[in-house]
Amino acid sequence: MKKSKIIAGVAAIAAAVAAGMLWMNGDTSADDVASHTVLTSQPPGAADADAVARGRAYVAIASDCTACHTMPESKLSLAGGYSISTPFGGIYASNITPDSETGIGSWTERDFFRAVRHGKGKQGEHLYPAMPYNAYVKLTDQDMHDLWMYIRSVKPIHYHVPETNLGFPYNIRLAMMGWNLLFFKNEGFKADPTKSAAWNRGAYLVEGPEHCAACHTAKNLLGGDTDAYLQGSNLSEWHAPDITPNPHTGIGRWTEQQLVDYLKLGSNHVAVASGPMAEAVTNSTQHLTDTDLRAIAAYLKEVPASDVQRPQPEAADSAQMKMGENVYAANCTACHNYDGKGIPNLAASLAGNSGLLADDASSIITTVLQGGRGAVTAGNPTSGAMPSFAWKLSDEQVAAVSTYLRNSWGNAAKPVKADEVAGKRAVLKLPPQMAAH
Ligand code: HEC
Ligand code: HEC
Ligand code: HEC
Repeated sequence: MKKSKIIAGVAAIAAAVAAGMLWMNGDTSADDVASHTVLTSQPPGAADADAVARGRAYVAIASDCTACHTMPESKLSLAGGYSISTPFGGIYASNITPDSETGIGSWTERDFFRAVRHGKGKQGEHLYPAMPYNAYVKLTDQDMHDLWMYIRSVKPIHYHVPETNLGFPYNIRLAMMGWNLLFFKNEGFKADPTKSAAWNRGAYLVEGPEHCAACHTAKNLLGGDTDAYLQGSNLSEWHAPDITPNPHTGIGRWTEQQLVDYLKLGSNHVAVASGPMAEAVTNSTQHLTDTDLRAIAAYLKEVPASDVQRPQPEAADSAQMKMGENVYAANCTACHNYDGKGIPNLAASLAGNSGLLADDASSIITTVLQGGRGAVTAGNPTSGAMPSFAWKLSDEQVAAVSTYLRNSWGNAAKPVKADEVAGKRAVLKLPPQMAAH
C-alpha cells in the first residue's frame, strides 16, 4: 500500500518534470510588477522611515516571515536555518537578512519580489513551495515594497544555512516548474466589486499575507492545494480544522465576535488555540487591528461551507465508550468538568467544540499524549496548560477517551482506534506507555 503510493508519487513527479521542460520556453512568470512601482536597490534612507515601520509592524507580522525564517528559541532573527518538514523531507528556510554573503544583501528589490511572489531564487532557480509564494503572490506592490524596506533595515547576520538535500526526484529544482504549472496560480489579488470593502480586505489577508490555506486546505500527493478550500488538513501531529461555515466541523456555530476573540486572544467560548495555531496567533493574528480581524471573520463566514454531515454518535453503552467514560472521570474532569465545558478561556470546552469533530483526530491524540499549552497573547497572558498522559494511559485508553469526548454532550464523530494512537506515539517520539497499573 505504502509502496504503491510512493511509486505513484514518483511517476507523478516525473510527469511534472516533463511538463516543466515543455513549459520552459513559455515561462514568463517573473516580472509583473505594476509599472508605477519604483524598484530600488538602495538601502532605506530617512525618507523611507514610514515604509520600514509599516513593513516591520504590519506586513511582516501579518505574513509571519519569522515563523519559518527564524529558528525557534534563536535570537538570530530572520537568519534562517529552521527545517520545515514536508512529506518529501526537511527544507531549510533561507537567511533573509541583508548579509551580502550568506543572506540576501546583494539582492535588488526586483529579485525580492520574484522570490516572495513567484518562488524564484536570485539565479532564477525554483524555490520549493514550502516557502508559501502561492499565497504571497497576492501581496500588493505597496505591501511588498514596505516589506522589502523593512527586510533591508534589519541587522545583517552572517550565518550559512545548511543545504537542503531532498532525495531523488525531489532534489531536482526544475521539477518545481512542473509543480508551478500544475498548482501555482500566478495571479495577484483581485477585489470582488460585488462584495463589501470588509469582505475584500478579509479575503486579501486570508488568501495572501496570512496564508491560512497553507495549513487549512488539504494537499494532494504532490503537496498542491486541493479544491477543498479551508476545509481542513492533516499536518502530521496536528489537524488544522475545517474553518468554513459548516455547522458541524467548521465555524458555522461561531459568531464573528467569537472568531475575532479566538484570533486576538487565542481562545474564546469553546476553543483554545494550541500547537501551530498557537504560534500563528501569538506571532501574527493577535497583532492585527480589530478592523482587520473583523474583516477576516466576515470573509470566513461567507466562504463556501464544506458538505460534511453530522454522523450518528457512538452508542453511550458500547464497550469503548464505557472505557472512555471511566478514563475521563478519573483523569480529565478536574479541568474539563463532567459536562465537558472546561474553564472559559483557559481549559478548552470539549462540548460543542467543532474543531474536535473532524474524521482526523490527530490534534486530540497529540494533546492527550504530549499535553499542551494554549496561545499566549497580550489579551490573555496566562494561558492554561494541559499535562501529558503518554506515560499513564495505554493506546486503548487514549483511543477510548478520545472517542468518548467526540461522542458526548451532543458531539458526534468517528471513533478513534488504538493503532492511530500508536502511530502518533511513534511520530511524536514518545516512549510507549510504561508500567501497567
Ligand atoms: C511556511 C514557511 C515560510 C514562511 C512563512 C516564509 N518563508 Fe521564505 N522561505 C521558506 C523556505 C523553506 C525557503 C527556502 C526554499 C528553498 O530552498 O527552495 C524560503 C525562501 C525564501 C527566500 C529566498 C531566499 C534565497 O536565498 O533564495 C526569500 C527571499 C524569502 N523566503 C522571503 C520570505 C519573506 C519575506 C517571508 C514573509 C513574507 C517569508 N519568506 C515567509 C519558508 C517560509
Ligand atoms: C501553521 C499552520 C496554521 C496556520 C498558518 C493557520 N492555522 Fe488555524 N489552525 C491550525 C491548527 C493546527 C489548528 C488546530 C488548533 C488546536 O487544535 O488547538 C487551527 C485552528 C484554527 C481555528 C479554530 C477552529 C476550531 O473549530 O476550533 C480557526 C478559527 C483558525 N485556525 C483560523 C485560522 C485563520 C483565519 C488563519 C489565517 C489567518 C489560520 N488559522 C492560519 C493551523 C494553522
Ligand atoms: C490540568 C488541567 C487539565 C487536565 C487534567 C486535562 N486537560 Fe485537556 N486541556 C487543558 C487545557 C488548559 C487545554 C487548552 C490548552 C491546550 O489545548 O493544550 C486543554 C485542551 C484539551 C483538548 C483540546 C485540544 C485542541 O486541539 O483544541 C483536548 C481534546 C483535551 N484537552 C482533552 C483532555 C483529556 C482527554 C484529558 C484527560 C485524559 C484532559 N484533557 C485533561 C487542561 C487540562
